[in-house]
Amino acid sequence: MSELRVLPDPEALSHAAADTFLSAATEAIRDRALFSVALAGGSTPRRAYEIIAQTWRAAPGGPLDWSRVHLFWGDERHVPPDHPDSNFRMANDVLIRRVPIPPGNVHPIPSAFPDAGEAADRYQEELRQFFKLRAGQVPRLDLILLGMGADGHVASLFPGTEALEITDRLVAANRVERLRSWRITLTLPVLNHAAKLVAMVAGREKSETLRRVIDGPHTPPLLPAERLQPDSGTLLWLVDEEAAWWAAAK
Ligand code: 6PG
Repeated sequence: MSELRVLPDPEALSHAAADTFLSAATEAIRDRALFSVALAGGSTPRRAYEIIAQTWRAAPGGPLDWSRVHLFWGDERHVPPDHPDSNFRMANDVLIRRVPIPPGNVHPIPSAFPDAGEAADRYQEELRQFFKLRAGQVPRLDLILLGMGADGHVASLFPGTEALEITDRLVAANRVERLRSWRITLTLPVLNHAAKLVAMVAGREKSETLRRVIDGPHTPPLLPAERLQPDSGTLLWLVDEEAAWWAAAK
């Protein structure tokens, strides 16, 4: 099941994303005393993370119990954690260092390894151990936050790249020739097994891609964003009016 929610502007989108995060966290902690979430990288989610850091004390069920929150990442650039391009660094700057989350609850992708494949193997093992997975089992994160590129990529699953087709791994190293760089990313099976997928898309430059993802035609080869098809969870598109001007025209 997927839902498209159009917000007036990026600020409203960020507030909606922060509220969704806090509601999902409150619900998961109430039901299972644990909230597992994979953060998105890029620029769109930054403001939402700032808002979470400012508003978690007023979460729906009372102040969020950060000791029950475990942060993962949907993807990471193949750079050290203090690099300007690091998704971990962005989240650390605007969220992690501003909330009382125990360091052991923060699970960054070990992107400093010289070999991206090694980083992917280690993160995969970390997921297996944390979620106590049997061989072949896929973790069910409570929430996975995503952005989307204008080319329809999500996480670091780019059109035409090898990792997009991997179904027998949880985490993969992915060579992105267009960027002339390596990425480490969760694979589609993990994304599609999440309880909640929330994709944040803002800006006119993404509107044609978003329109295709939402309205079709879903002509092969499907874009990575079109392959977000939760097997039992939900998919929420949080978009601004610039990215979804066509929705208003309906
Ligand atoms: C990354 C992200 C990536 C991002 C999209 C959108 O590591 O860059 O995980 O998938 O979400 O590229 O990026 P913007 O939010 O900057 O447009």
